[in-house]
Amino acid sequence: MDTALSVKGLRKSFGDRTVLNGVDFRVDSGELVVLLGANGSGKSTALRCVVGLTKPDAGEVKIAGKTSAAMVFQQIHLVRRRSVIDNVCAGGLAGLPLSRSLAPVLFPKELKERAMSCLERVGLADRARDKASKLSGGQQQRVAVARALCQGAKVLLADEPVSALDPAAAKQVMDLLAELAHEDGLAVAAVLHQPDLARRHADRVLGLLHGEIRLARPAGELSESDIDALYAPDLVVEA
Ligand SMILES: Nc1ncnc2c1ncn2[C@@H]1O[C@H](COP(=O)(O)OP(=O)(O)OP(=O)(O)O)[C@@H](O)[C@H]1O
Ligand SMILES: [Mg+2]
Repeated sequence: MDTALSVKGLRKSFGDRTVLNGVDFRVDSGELVVLLGANGSGKSTALRCVVGLTKPDAGEVKIAGKTSAAMVFQQIHLVRRRSVIDNVCAGGLAGLPLSRSLAPVLFPKELKERAMSCLERVGLADRARDKASKLSGGQQQRVAVARALCQGAKVLLADEPVSALDPAAAKQVMDLLAELAHEDGLAVAAVLHQPDLARRHADRVLGLLHGEIRLARPAGELSESDIDALYAPDLVVEA
């Protein structure tokens, strides 16, 4: 498969705290990669550097085709008083200033059609006219995925997309992310705090520790000692 996202030598410090100290990884088209790591290990910072929300101190981010990746967040950030379809259309206007993309404009017909097909993709076409605030958390997260799809990016990043969801809704969102990789050929990278979900849904697992990718495994090979090494590194005696 083609490499859709490649990150090399990514470095970022905040003041004298070095958070990313040479992060290297790639995500291919058609695969779902999960990034694990303890609180504060720099997972969000790494994703934010990839989408350009944070400026890295050094390193290279290469995204094939389109110039940017789309991102979904743990805090879902829909405009709650607007309709579901308008929220998805806003993704298609990502290039415009926020004030314009959220103004009560009439979205062009072709954008509405694209948004509708993105809503179909996440299984929520029947809720298009509802206010976003009427949907459950899991449904809202799927709308956020649809909005990201509407940007047309080939690389989709998700920062803790299921942390606020119940287990059934979390499974639904993870199944969706896996389908977008396996069926639609997107390159998907998701930050999770649930190693079991990573094992069940991901193709590969990466682990961030001490500012570097210290773990890279096919998801099926993720072991308990891998997990201990990531989350309680002081307890692990090196062999
Ligand atoms: N804008 C910022 N200014 C200063 N420090 C920051 C900033 N953003 C992140 N940090 C610091 O960088 C470190 C990594 O933060 P980051 O949010 O990337 O971690 P994370 O792995 O996503 O953690 P979590 O699992 O809690 O979401 C933390 O020590 C955090 O305090
Ligand atoms: Mg984070």
